[in-house]
Amino acid sequence: MKTIFNTFINSQKKIIALAPMAGISDAPYRGICSAFGADVTYTEMVSALGMKYNPERCEDIRMRSPNETICAMQLFGDNPSVMAKIAKEYCEPYDFIDINMGCPAPKITKNNQGSALMKNPQLAADIVKAMTDAIDKPVTVKIRSGWDANSINAVEFAKKLEEAGAACIAVHGRHRSQFYSGKADLAIIKQVKDELKVPVLGNGDIFCADDAAAMIAKTGCDGVMVARGAQGNPFIFEQINDLLNGRKPREYTEEERKAVILKHAEALSEIYGEKMMALKMRKHLCWYSKGHKGVSALKQKAIKVSDYNDIVEFCKML
Ligand SMILES: Cc1cc2nc3c(=O)[nH]c(=O)nc-3n(C[C@H](O)[C@H](O)[C@H](O)COP(=O)(O)O)c2cc1C
Repeated sequence: MKTIFNTFINSQKKIIALAPMAGISDAPYRGICSAFGADVTYTEMVSALGMKYNPERCEDIRMRSPNETICAMQLFGDNPSVMAKIAKEYCEPYDFIDINMGCPAPKITKNNQGSALMKNPQLAADIVKAMTDAIDKPVTVKIRSGWDANSINAVEFAKKLEEAGAACIAVHGRHRSQFYSGKADLAIIKQVKDELKVPVLGNGDIFCADDAAAMIAKTGCDGVMVARGAQGNPFIFEQINDLLNGRKPREYTEEERKAVILKHAEALSEIYGEKMMALKMRKHLCWYSKGHKGVSALKQKAIKVSDYNDIVEFCKML
């Protein structure tokens, strides 16, 4: 069951993962990141209760890109039996199921879900146990360092989840009260890594290959998980792979970047149609604009694209 992760550990290959990102981690984007070397990808978080009552929502979530090698569906919820039932019904076509115990959004935490589960370790462990009993695929968890500065409990919490059957723990080194502010605490990720037998992924503030190398050097983690650093920058996965394998990470040419933007738009179009593709591409184009000359003009163009031709025009401005 845990062979997915063992393959990496046995070959001493660090896992390079694209983090789950709500509204972003759809199959086309995951496919682009996989093509650049993301070993593992996650869907955006999906409500187990929402899937129970609106299964049509799954049509979108259940798509995988042909490029993806290992992909997880990420579920959130607070009811062990509902989580187990949804995991069982929807674990195909995924390689493993991840549980979100890190989301800081009040609309999630007020229902005792996401990072609020860090205040309720027993319930969190019951969810992991119910899900591991229900499916043969690995169940993993993504956590934070704790709920707030006064309740940093990632180490005990992760150990309890491991005992309950979790096959891998990803740690975002911020507590819930920080949301995305401050800096990720790498010391807490190291403490979790030192205490656990299952693989640990380090997450937080990896914006370039050097950041990934530093995360590994400072925590000893088994892999890294990248979220914001991959927005408009799927190249980061190849750059991390290169650096970790002793090669100098290379910069991508403008022509290569344009080709990726067009591929991204085409992959989105295939699944969602041209109109929805353009709406989805608006935020990606803003991110692809980062670091370019005339970024504000580019963003003005990006937020107005409405078809494939507009994307081609956007690329001409780069
Ligand atoms: C736009 C956005 C959406 C996110 N959605 C999710 C999500 O669905 N599930 C989850 O576990 N974390 C989610 N996160 C948190 C990231 O996975 C990650 O833990 C966090 O951004 C820290 O990593 P980073 O510094 O590499 O961005 C989201 C983050 C962002 C920026």
